[in-house]
Amino acid sequence: MCGIIGYIGFRDSKEVLLKGLKKIQYRGYDSMGLVIATEQGFKRIRSVGDVRQLRNKVAKQGSCSGSWGLGHSRWATHGAPSEENAHPHKAEHIYVVHNGIIENAEELKAWLKGPFLSETDSEVVAHCLLDSYKQKGSLKGAIFDTISKIKGEYAIAVMSEKYPNELFAFKKGPSLLVGLGEKEIFLSSDVQVFLPYTKKVVFLQDGEVAHVEGENEVSFYSEGGEKIEKRITALDAKAEETDKEGYPYYMLKEIYEQPDCVLNVIGEHIKKQDVEININKGSGILDQVIRQKRLNIVACGSSYYAALYGKYVIERFSRVFVEVDMASEFRYRSPILADQVPVLLISQSGETADTLAVMKMFQELSLPVLSLCNVMHSSLDRGASAHMYMLAGVEKGVASTKAFTSTLVTLFLLALALGKKNGQLGGSEKEQLINSLLSLPDQMEKILARTQEYVDAAHLVRALKSFIYLGRDIYYPLALEGALKMKELTYRHAAAYPAGEMKHGPLALVDENMAIVGLTPQSHVYKKTLGNLEEARSRKGKLILIGTEGDKVASSLSEYFLSIPACNEYLSSILCVLPLQLMAYHTACALGHNVDQPRNLAKSVTVE
Ligand code: M6R
Repeated sequence: MCGIIGYIGFRDSKEVLLKGLKKIQYRGYDSMGLVIATEQGFKRIRSVGDVRQLRNKVAKQGSCSGSWGLGHSRWATHGAPSEENAHPHKAEHIYVVHNGIIENAEELKAWLKGPFLSETDSEVVAHCLLDSYKQKGSLKGAIFDTISKIKGEYAIAVMSEKYPNELFAFKKGPSLLVGLGEKEIFLSSDVQVFLPYTKKVVFLQDGEVAHVEGENEVSFYSEGGEKIEKRITALDAKAEETDKEGYPYYMLKEIYEQPDCVLNVIGEHIKKQDVEININKGSGILDQVIRQKRLNIVACGSSYYAALYGKYVIERFSRVFVEVDMASEFRYRSPILADQVPVLLISQSGETADTLAVMKMFQELSLPVLSLCNVMHSSLDRGASAHMYMLAGVEKGVASTKAFTSTLVTLFLLALALGKKNGQLGGSEKEQLINSLLSLPDQMEKILARTQEYVDAAHLVRALKSFIYLGRDIYYPLALEGALKMKELTYRHAAAYPAGEMKHGPLALVDENMAIVGLTPQSHVYKKTLGNLEEARSRKGKLILIGTEGDKVASSLSEYFLSIPACNEYLSSILCVLPLQLMAYHTACALGHNVDQPRNLAKSVTVE
């Protein structure tokens, strides 16, 4: 989950690298580093922390300008976040930046000479290259030799003091792109690094090597070492310049953008008051789902919770059987993949390693893959056979908010579309559901206007160390998401259960120190849920309930009541996410945490 950058060109590479690192630090912000070929020789600068700390350190070094260099943002896998473990790693004249995991690092370390100055698996690549270089006599030869020796997943960029104005890049797994500008060439994990300068890109495939020789020339090689021609793609994407627009954190800004995100999704899939799912290339995939009466959905984290919501709505409105899996589990069990049954892979970033591994499994069996991504041109978006988009705009906060909501609304509309196609959803029910959805953005605005309520709720729970989130049926996936937000932002223990499961064990946890966050809007499970919440209250749990405006029963049961406007239960569950996000956000702020960069996490999980 690191980000890598390389640059050769007419600009000051220090600025290109630092600006680029700011854009990819969502991939890891525990340490940063760069190496630049300056007139006074190679300068390698590394620091713990995010790009601000690195920039300060670079400024203190005095002149550090040069026309080529490498940069790296790290999320620690092997070895603690420290300057020694930060990239670039070095073996004599060779410098390496790496994203991924070298699985045979220990074996390689055992026969390479070192000296190894870090605890990382990445440093071994620099030494492996050096060893191969000594045998082969060329860096290109050393690259191919090293590829044959290292095992695992990687995107790697290399430069050497002996090879002025040259960069090498190769990958297996994580994304690695080459940006082709006018008299400048970029290497990067993410197009956003070079979009301000060029829209021309070459996507490296696993096993391929890029060899940049100066600001105008790049050659590509297959794993076997033959020179190959690569297609240059002209991106239609825009450079995403985003700032906090006056909000203290990106996450808060993103929470407040949710009504607009919902409007984007509605605009995409509702035409003339009816649902018309817009699937890019391969709309036949929905007919296939209908024919097979089955759909797999696979994802991780919040995207997985959204997938669970998808199961409830799709099964309810279309009677299509939906199997939902976590990508990290799915890839290692022996799933029974029915012939012709498509998979929907959900990923905000489109770069989550486990989800990409699942895509590969389906592709190998020639099964159709539909993606739902927020980032266009991401690895998932490029690899899928049919595409939908979250349309949430850039999401910077590590804790997903608006992309999650957009996913829920997209899945709700997918459910209606399937129900409409197979005749399971009657015209008038569909009409009512669509009308209800059209009111959702305004209802969200109302919830978002009540800031003080969330600040007060946060004040009430900030001292508590444990949280249980409860919901039933369609509210259960939202309980899971609420607990995840609380965990990620406050570092408090939070678990979610279907409310009816409490008496089967978790009730033993409840005492006066336990916050119980219950989702109780009016629905077919309202009374049952309230009953379960009463049981927790009888054991002295502190009830914070999210329910329908004017619900005196739920309000009188709770220590704190957060209300949402009345609406259809398949949509009130979506409304519940706003109080859940805001309560976690304000609790984290009250505890003094950095909300946008929670400890130990990264936005894009590009390693297993
Ligand atoms: O980019 P993806 O949607 O594939 O990411 C999946 C998870 O890593 C992500 O949802 C994670 O759980 C978030 N930090 C949740 O807030």
